[in-house]
Amino acid sequence: MKLGVNIDHIAVLRQARQVNDPDILNAMYIAVSAGADQITIHLREDRRHIDDIDTQNIINLCPIPVNLECATAITDIVVDLRPHRATLVPEKREELTTEGGLNLNSPKLVSSINAMNRANIDVSLFIDPNLDDIKATKHLGVNTIELHTGSFANAYLMAYSNISKTKFSIKSIENQDAKELLKIEFNRLKTAAKFAKNLGLKVAAGHGLNYQNVGLIAGISEIFELNIGQSIIARSVFTGLNQAIKDMKRLINEA
Ligand code: PXP
Repeated sequence: MKLGVNIDHIAVLRQARQVNDPDILNAMYIAVSAGADQITIHLREDRRHIDDIDTQNIINLCPIPVNLECATAITDIVVDLRPHRATLVPEKREELTTEGGLNLNSPKLVSSINAMNRANIDVSLFIDPNLDDIKATKHLGVNTIELHTGSFANAYLMAYSNISKTKFSIKSIENQDAKELLKIEFNRLKTAAKFAKNLGLKVAAGHGLNYQNVGLIAGISEIFELNIGQSIIARSVFTGLNQAIKDMKRLINEA
């Protein structure tokens, strides 16, 4: 199974200070040398993390495929940038991250898919794991989908962590049996992946996957690729913090 590493989160940190540190291109090269199969980035309409120049640089310099997540509103920009793949996602300015799958009835979707196909960009649609959406995807002439794993990830957190005791508790499922919900969400993903693969679609998945829950999803053989960001970048802070402090102490002590 392939791993697309979403490096936007590096740019989130950079934007907090408006300096080029951490450098998104360094993140790209480290991800490549660590064995990532793909670099995934999300150019949001409000450019809250990566911007057009980052995106252009990553597409030009990346030695492995670049999967650019984007809303239909920036189709013209994506056509000019020509990434290996564009994953169309819904986007609301007020949301912290992509909260649900695409509305496949959106009139803009067809023209966006056609424009990208004409530019030889492989198009994928980020959809909720339901069979009607998968059938609709097939009718739209797209051959790759990414299943939204957010509901599964939320159920996993509520079932197997103490998140419900914190301010990060997932309010929408607080009153449900989280373990039961997890089973339902997992089965939805598994059924959806199987159904889509049988229709001839390539099936990716992503959102909210982390070191605890990834094993279940990676066990679904119909899925060929996972796109993961937040948990990898969050973990790298802790796997790297020890060395970063030692490097600074050494410089201070050697001065
Ligand atoms: N796939 C898609 C389509 C996304 O929108 C995101 C979030 O940008 C991801 C994967 C990665 O999600 P996370 O950062 O939660 O791992």
